[in-house]
Amino acid sequence: MPDLAVLDRQAILGAVSAAEAISRTREAFLRHRQGDWVMPPKVYLESPGFGDFRAMPARGDGLAILKWISSFPSNPRRGLPTVIGLLCVSDAETSEPIALLDAGAVTALRTGAVAAVAGKALAREDATTASVIGCGLNGGWAGRCLAAAGYADGVCFDPRPEAAEELAATLGWRAGTLAEALRCDVVTCVTPGAQVVVDAKDLRAGMHLNMLGADGPGKAEATVGAVASCALFCDEWAQASHGGELTGAVEAGMVTREQVTDLGAVLTGEAPGRRGPDAVTLFDSTGLAIQDLAIAAAAVEAWRAGRVEAQTVRL
Ligand SMILES: NC(=O)c1ccc[n+]([C@@H]2O[C@H](COP(=O)([O-])OP(=O)(O)OC[C@H]3O[C@@H](n4cnc5c(N)ncnc54)[C@H](O)[C@@H]3O)[C@@H](O)[C@H]2O)c1
Repeated sequence: MPDLAVLDRQAILGAVSAAEAISRTREAFLRHRQGDWVMPPKVYLESPGFGDFRAMPARGDGLAILKWISSFPSNPRRGLPTVIGLLCVSDAETSEPIALLDAGAVTALRTGAVAAVAGKALAREDATTASVIGCGLNGGWAGRCLAAAGYADGVCFDPRPEAAEELAATLGWRAGTLAEALRCDVVTCVTPGAQVVVDAKDLRAGMHLNMLGADGPGKAEATVGAVASCALFCDEWAQASHGGELTGAVEAGMVTREQVTDLGAVLTGEAPGRRGPDAVTLFDSTGLAIQDLAIAAAAVEAWRAGRVEAQTVRL
């Protein structure tokens, strides 16, 4: 068995820039849509009272991955991240394990990147302002990727003012109120999904919403009325309709499969995206294993090329 590389958070963030995360993530949606990359549905394992674990496999471009990751909303009270875990990369031809990656860093990069990919695909072409609502770990990377995609003017909102101010300073944006954040052209929500932050009255002609925080059963960042009023897009219908922002509106009978377009279909040109400058578009991201594969492949390539260092272990 060859040595197994162990890439920590610093190595992954050093290996994959926000710009590369965006292009790799976009490519992942295309390759999956074209049938080159495959991904069975993710498996949830509840840890009652704490949160849930997710097992997320995918295969493509000679690699096979399994991400084993948490969403434990009460973890920050213990001084721990909400999202923690490991990602195992194997050779898809020999099945040999190649690397172990910090899954939190991979998740942050691919979650942030999809906000930029969906924003560029679905927002108005003349959109200039962006906001992040919920400036924690994954909101921070959404902001970095939106800034890398060219949104130079933006607003950060968080009930913890220091989190909003710190992220705003990093991005060259400003900290503001929830109302100010909701007035931006591209609004990205990355809260724990325990409280609604977008109501139907907040919708304005021409806005685009990225809903990233509600990625499991029982979470929502928008009212069902708001969701049902938008032109709807998702990363994957099976996940979005059962454990995403769309779930409440689907369960209430207000949204059906026919009303929701897959982001991959928009990117390949099979389906239209925004229908005019006044449309209000909403993208529901639940997080896909193909996105993790995209970032893991980039990190492993960087390590193999000697661009980042990793510890190694022999099993
Ligand atoms: N869609 C995806 O692919 C994906 C990927 C990773 C995480 N997530 C989800 O995103 C959410 C956030 O994850 P994280 O790791 O960034 O968590 P985090 O704890 O690091 O950050 C959450 C932030 O939201 C803020 N917040 C709480 N209530 C808020 C409110 N009402 N309005 C605005 N901000 C509020 C908190 O103060 C905190 O800064 C979780 O629900 C997680 O499961 C989704």
